[in-house]
Amino acid sequence: MPLRPAPRGAQNPSVAPVGDRVTPAGSLGGTASPPTTTPPVGSGSTAEFLDALLQEKSVLFRGSREILRDSYVPSRLPHREEEIRKVSEVVGPALRGDLPSNLLVYGKIGTGKTAVVAQVRQDIQRRAEQSKNVAFVTVNCGNIDTAYGLLQTIANSFARSEADRIPTGWSLDRVQAAMRRLMDDRAATIILVLDEIDRLVARSGASVLYTLSQLNTELETARLAILGISNDLKFTNSLDARVRSRLNEEKIVFHPYNATQLQDILRDRAKLAFKDDVVDPGVVERCAAYASLENGDARRALALLRLAAEMAERDHAKRITPDHVVKAKNRLEQDIILECCRTLPPHCKVLLYAILQLFERRRNGVLTGEVYDSYRRLAERLGLQPLHSRSISNYVSELETLGLIRATIVSRGRGGRTREIIVDVPISETVPALEEDPLIAPIGRPRSRGQTLLTNFDNPNRTGPL
Ligand SMILES: Nc1ncnc2c1ncn2[C@@H]1O[C@H](COP(=O)(O)OP(=O)(O)O)[C@@H](O)[C@H]1O
Ligand SMILES: [Mg+2]
Repeated sequence: MPLRPAPRGAQNPSVAPVGDRVTPAGSLGGTASPPTTTPPVGSGSTAEFLDALLQEKSVLFRGSREILRDSYVPSRLPHREEEIRKVSEVVGPALRGDLPSNLLVYGKIGTGKTAVVAQVRQDIQRRAEQSKNVAFVTVNCGNIDTAYGLLQTIANSFARSEADRIPTGWSLDRVQAAMRRLMDDRAATIILVLDEIDRLVARSGASVLYTLSQLNTELETARLAILGISNDLKFTNSLDARVRSRLNEEKIVFHPYNATQLQDILRDRAKLAFKDDVVDPGVVERCAAYASLENGDARRALALLRLAAEMAERDHAKRITPDHVVKAKNRLEQDIILECCRTLPPHCKVLLYAILQLFERRRNGVLTGEVYDSYRRLAERLGLQPLHSRSISNYVSELETLGLIRATIVSRGRGGRTREIIVDVPISETVPALEEDPLIAPIGRPRSRGQTLLTNFDNPNRTGPL
């Protein structure tokens, strides 16, 4: 039996079309549906399927799809030559044995900050002889965002044996002392890259940065320079003046890419990722145009190109066309909205659900008073103590910042003012997605099996059988 692997989207949950997420666990979906009971590992059908999957040559992709993923580090970073030079100027003196100044790199998401710093790190480390006394430690504070976790990670990066490693459960002072000892044992100029440093401060405060920024007064043989990377230009505002001035010795701002620059970045990657002549004219331009409207985010541009290719594969197309980019854009927006809804705090979710329900009935702006009443009723039905209207008003602003709703101030006669809210997301997809949430499910409308997820991005009206 000739086997055709499932569409790409069904194999990778992070890019799975929403409709595919209801595929039963363990099923590979697509045309090659495995039997309903999971066969034992290595059984004929699974092995055959996996073999077919491996052997199937992509019509579009030249080789690894990873080239279009964020984790891929390109060897060239067009339009960041100046930034690479500036970062090297600050950090480079470490190769001569000098202590670099602390540096803060700022810029919106997807402006190449992480990539540039990674490239400078690589360039320095390639100078093997001189770089022996330079040690880089890179921590992504989006993942490690507690003082303990951070100090422990830094310390453990210098551990030479299992016995050196710091376990959990020590006091912070003890971790700090152990970290200093391990650093001094290495006796190097340490460049500590704190990527997404703004998230560390937002979640755990700045005291650990205070500790780190004064470490040079306590270190004996090692020396430390801190290279912070922040998506938030204002993040130092919340810092104590001493920490702020220590970290801000040097500062580099990365500006968003414009559409032409994004095109150059995408063309480089497309050449590596795709076979010759499978990308139609207009594809790269369209991805770049959409992403330049989204703050010039290279990550978004690459995601669009990757998804457009996946849309083309789903259509069994031999070429990627601008239409695939349009589909990719719709899909990406939906995924972002759904992800955003999933991560809201509980009361904010209930509030959004109240707004969506009112708006769905009315298809017209709803006033904050009505929204509050409806929120309160829903919260009570869920057994939650409703929050005060002041907190709800803050949540309304938060939902607006996230781009899920728009609120405009309207006058209500006699100087009274209220906010009128309209919904900025496709209701037919957001409502069912919220109703899938365990918090909202008890007050969600019953729906029959198979009707739970309604996203159909192939349908231009994006409606579902609600
Ligand atoms: N100038 C560039 N050339 C090639 N790829 C780039 C460039 N800038 C960013 N990228 C790519 O875009 C994605 C996002 O870049 P990243 O450095 O993670 O952005 P940031 O850290 O500013 O959010 C990564 O896949 C990166 O490789
Ligand atoms: Mg980054």
